Amino acid sequence: MDVTMNISQKLSALQVMQDAPVIPVIVLNDVGQAVLLARALVAGGIRMLEVTLRTPQALACIEAIARDVPEAVVGAGTVRSAADAQACAMAGARFVVSPGYTHAVGQACRDAGLPLLPGVATGSEIMMAQEDGLTELKFFPALQAGGTAMLKAWGGPFGDVTFCPTGGVSMANAAEFLALPNVACVGGSWLTPADALACGDWDRMTELARQACLLTRRVA
Ligand code: 3PG
Repeated sequence: MDVTMNISQKLSALQVMQDAPVIPVIVLNDVGQAVLLARALVAGGIRMLEVTLRTPQALACIEAIARDVPEAVVGAGTVRSAADAQACAMAGARFVVSPGYTHAVGQACRDAGLPLLPGVATGSEIMMAQEDGLTELKFFPALQAGGTAMLKAWGGPFGDVTFCPTGGVSMANAAEFLALPNVACVGGSWLTPADALACGDWDRMTELARQACLLTRRVA
């Protein structure tokens, strides 16, 4: 964790990526769990939290974390439209992650002053994001779309891009991704397992976050 970063300031996409080796991808069904989960991950050293817009409660969860856990930086994931981006900004999200890229989502994030990590899986998608000035991108779905071999191949033509591989990344393979010169962090859902969430096992999630923070990366 970059302890020198003032998290109350506006962040860049690179700062979001560089804060910890892993950005947890979170699915919350219960607003009552949002604050407890955020505190558990922060206790383990992870404060950039991606709450996905995959449940009806997601925006309320983002709002609760933004309000009650000032040590965390809550972001919104699974943002697929300009309207999603605007709703997240209203809820207090500080960064946006999307599974793909459209100019409309890019524009909405710029208008809202929110850093965006858009998902890309092809060279054309990277070029489209770059046309709009984005050089920090999520590689999604990382394992399914070519894994570390794809990132190595992209290192040539897209040597100015930094990636956050997400999708199929786990404690078992995260180190291979983080060893690459064009990877600043990885994303993954393994820090918040559904069974741990179901029984409110916050200590387990703190421990998973702690282990994730021990991962070393080439780009920091
Ligand atoms: C997602 O958007 O679901 C993320 O890519 C998380 O994928 P994972 O569950 O494989 O970590």
